[in-house]
Amino acid sequence: MTHTACLIPGDGIGPEVAEAARRVIEASGASIAWEVLPAGAAAAAQYGDVLPAETLEAIQRHKIALKGPVTTPIGKGFKSVNVQLRKKLNLYAAVRPVRSMPGVKTRYENVELVVIRENTEGLYSGIENEIVPGVVTSLKVATRTACERIARFAFHYAHTRRRKRVAVFHKANIMKMSDGLFLECARAMRDAYGPDIEYEELIIDNGCMQLVRDPARFDILLLENLYGDVISDLCAGLVGGLGVVPGSNIGDDCAVFEAVHGSAPDIAGQNIANPLAIIMSGVMMLNHLGETDAAARIRDAYDKVLRDRRPDELTRDIGGVAGTREFAEALMRRME
Ligand code: NAI
Repeated sequence: MTHTACLIPGDGIGPEVAEAARRVIEASGASIAWEVLPAGAAAAAQYGDVLPAETLEAIQRHKIALKGPVTTPIGKGFKSVNVQLRKKLNLYAAVRPVRSMPGVKTRYENVELVVIRENTEGLYSGIENEIVPGVVTSLKVATRTACERIARFAFHYAHTRRRKRVAVFHKANIMKMSDGLFLECARAMRDAYGPDIEYEELIIDNGCMQLVRDPARFDILLLENLYGDVISDLCAGLVGGLGVVPGSNIGDDCAVFEAVHGSAPDIAGQNIANPLAIIMSGVMMLNHLGETDAAARIRDAYDKVLRDRRPDELTRDIGGVAGTREFAEALMRRME
């Protein structure tokens, strides 16, 4: 079956890594008809908007997008593409799988966890006021609708992927009402799913300490917006950084898959960027589409390339001398 999806190359290294991902996905046997669309600084220069209406409309139509990093031009008038996409498409769950990669040396082994972050409210609601000069407030919003929705998502994710444990990080000892509501909704979902999924609550400071002491003991982490943002980068650091973790933003209607790193203007256009993170995001996209065999083929291929550690097949940031294209071609050879 041929699927249709949006490909948003983005800015900086985006077009190079997106092209590498497109070729690798094509070589995996999955059939995707791409509609290539603009977003970011290049789109702003051409269309006067970092997120042109045709791009948003195409994602709503195809319901799936693979997105490269974008640069948000500094200065008034441009809102972040990522924030706009989350709001306009109601992409309420950010999902970031974090796994120890073969051949990528870090302090930890056997990390295999998934960070699930509420993407729409909390302190990121952006409601800030200056009460009197020198006194500002920032409101943390928690709604039962959003807390229930993300808790349901996390338990459903755990259940369908046969994961064993959900851990909620919170600060309900201090933020008794907002984090209290988050916990209340997580507990209700724990009760609904029963004993097959173990459930644990950790005050976030203790949770951070446990994560850096023994990350392998964690499975699914469920967090509100700010905690999820911070903890997901911390978790990426446990397995080798932003270059080796994929990301996705998922709603009931649409899903946007993207590498977590930025547009890296310092190395753009030189064929040296590592395309692994967007390729891994492409694997998540294939799984989402039900193309699990193609997804497994790509995953096996990059595991092999990383394990073999041939300098002519690895990009510079992970110890090799290969270019973006050569890295992608090494993956494609492993799939033949
Ligand atoms: P960055 O992630 O673009 O770069 C940080 C460092 O990591 C740089 O030295 C860069 O060369 C390196 N790097 C990043 N990705 C790499 C890759 N795939 N292969 C090899 N090296 C890589 O972060 P920075 O410099 O803070 O942001 C640059 C621009 O990207 C900004 O305009 C920022 O707003 C945007 N950005 C966009 C994101 C998105 O669209 N999802 C996320 C983060 C930043």
